[in-house]
Order: sequence, then C-alpha cells, then structure tokens
Amino acid sequence: MIIKHIKWNGCVLSVLDQKMLPLEMRWIKCRDLNKIFLIIRDMNIRGAPLIGIVAAFGVVLHIKKGRIKDIFTFDKRINEAVEVLSKSRPTAINLYWALDRMKKVFDNNRDKTLNEIVCILEEEALSIWQEDIDMSHKMAGFGADFINDGDGVLTHCNAGGLATGGYGTALGVFFKAKENGVNFLVYVDETRPVLQGARLTAWELKQAGIKYRLITDNMSGFLMKQGRINKVFVGADRIVKNGGFANKIGTYSVAQLAKIHNIPFYVVAPSTSFDLTLSSEGEIPIEERDSKEIIFFNNISIAPVDSNVENPAFDITPPSLITVIITEKGVINSPFQENIAKIFKLK
Ligand code: MRU
Repeated sequence: MIIKHIKWNGCVLSVLDQKMLPLEMRWIKCRDLNKIFLIIRDMNIRGAPLIGIVAAFGVVLHIKKGRIKDIFTFDKRINEAVEVLSKSRPTAINLYWALDRMKKVFDNNRDKTLNEIVCILEEEALSIWQEDIDMSHKMAGFGADFINDGDGVLTHCNAGGLATGGYGTALGVFFKAKENGVNFLVYVDETRPVLQGARLTAWELKQAGIKYRLITDNMSGFLMKQGRINKVFVGADRIVKNGGFANKIGTYSVAQLAKIHNIPFYVVAPSTSFDLTLSSEGEIPIEERDSKEIIFFNNISIAPVDSNVENPAFDITPPSLITVIITEKGVINSPFQENIAKIFKLK
C-alpha cells in the first residue's frame, strides 16, 4: 500500500499534516525553506526517511526562491538551507544524509549553468524520494519471511508509509506479509506522548486491511508473558557501527521485555538510517522535546501545568537486544559490528 502524503509540483511541496491525522486530511503547502524547517521541527511530518526526503525538497525550494545570479550566491543558498535544516531535528541521521547528498551533487555540478544545476538538484530530491520507496519494498521482501501464520507481532511508533517515502519499514514488512497471504495479528503500541501508534499506525493498518489491536505502552509485557506477542518489529532513526540504534522513546523498554521473554526483536531500516561515523549507540544525540507534549493532551492539561518533565523523543537500544537488522541490502545477523562492516564494505 503506497500512501500519497507528499506532492511536488515544481514550486510547492504539499504535505499531509500528520498532527491532524486520523481526524482530518489537512494539506500544508510549503513554498520556502522556513516553512520546511517548521513542519519538520513541529512534527507535521515525521519519521526518519520522510524527514530526509522533505529536507531535500527544502534545499530545492531555497534555490528556486528569487533569481540567483552567480555560482557564489548559489553556493551561499545551499549552505543556508543545510544550516537551517540541520537544526530542525537532531536524532534521525536521514536528515543529515539527505542534506549531504544534495550538497555533494551541487559540488559535483558546479561547472553547469545555474538553470541546469537547479534541474539536477530537483531531480536528485525526486530520486531520494523514489529510492526510499524502492528500499522499503526490498526490506519488506526480506522481512516478510520472518512472519508466519498465527503470529502476534508488536510494533512501536509509526514506521509506515507516513514515516517514509510511501511504503514503510516495519509496516512495509506487514504489508508484504499480508500480500503473501499470511494470517497474523499486529499489536500497536499507542506510543506516548504524541501517539504515532494510535493515530498513524492504526490508521495505516486499517486501510491496508491488516488485523490489529491497539494497546497502551504499558501492556506489551503482560501480552508477551501470555504468549500473545511472539515477535517485535520496529524502525530506526539512527543505527551505528556496532548495530545499536536510536528509535522512538519506549523502544528500549520493548526490546528488554522481548529479551526477557525470548521473543525475537527485528529492526527494519534502510541504509540511509545508518551512521557509520559513530562507534556506539551512546554517542547518538537524543532530541529533547517541549514539556507541553507531556502535560497537555489536545490542549487540555492532564498534570499540574508547572510540572517539571523529562521528554526525550528517542531512546537507544544496544545490539545485544537485537535479533537481526533488515535493510534493503539484506538481513544483518549478529555479530553486528562485523556484519555491518561487511555489508557496507567498510575497511
Ligand atoms: O518522532 P518521530 O515520529 O519522527 O519518530 C519516528 C520513529 O521513531 C520511527 O520509528 C523511525 O523514524 C523509523 S520510521 C521508518
């Protein structure tokens, strides 16, 4: 199932506002860099691969704004876009990967005319988007082999079409398994505080006709103990050299619970979510978000409004809790450090 949640018409990027889903299908029109920065920072769009795709279009919008007279001004514009967007959300590596790719393509084409460079960068953003969909399909093919009739699989956050170019990482695996005729049930963690599971994953599974049960984040241990959840599939925002990774807050707790109950824990992520400059997961920067996300629910306070809160948007899971990592390049088994180096051909 391909979700159409972004549209590009050459000068406007329209995105489906994920903060309003599933209640309202509201589209946001982005015409400049600042708007792209805001929709990423404020999570109108979210999910590691999608953040990268949208950022690439942010670069394109910035170079299309007003007439650029020479290559120096062009260079300045590219650097401005990279600088602004780099500050939007710090954890998902896909953001930096996409910005870096756009910058490299610019650097490699400096000898072309300015109009040609604009076209080349626009094509690049479109390729980043299409390649992400292709990678999702490949991962889904590998991942679906791990799902059997009668399985009860747990997922956390939203790793579906909405979080990517349009198909999904962990959810892509479920879509493919369903296509293959496998009969399984998905348990969906609601995913506090902003409820990506309840609002987005449940919505996507419903549309795909996949059987699911929505649970609160504190129920999975009990269901594992009862034998109703027998596999876990999650996405990732940044995977480092040793296989450790950052993902939505709550993932680490689920991984620990899975370990205790002897349940396989699968991570599904494209190569664009790997940061092979970092050696261990403890080095990943973790985004701290506004306390309002915890204290308020739909603008109604659910705690004393002056409460001190902690609101890390992500947590980190060590490699010892992972069964396999599924990428478009293939399935990576333990020992992860060695096998990641092999699959990415690191020296
Ligand atoms: O804060 P979010 O909603 O951007 O966090 C998203 C996640 O943690 C996803 O699990 C992750 O990006 C992988 S999605 C393919």
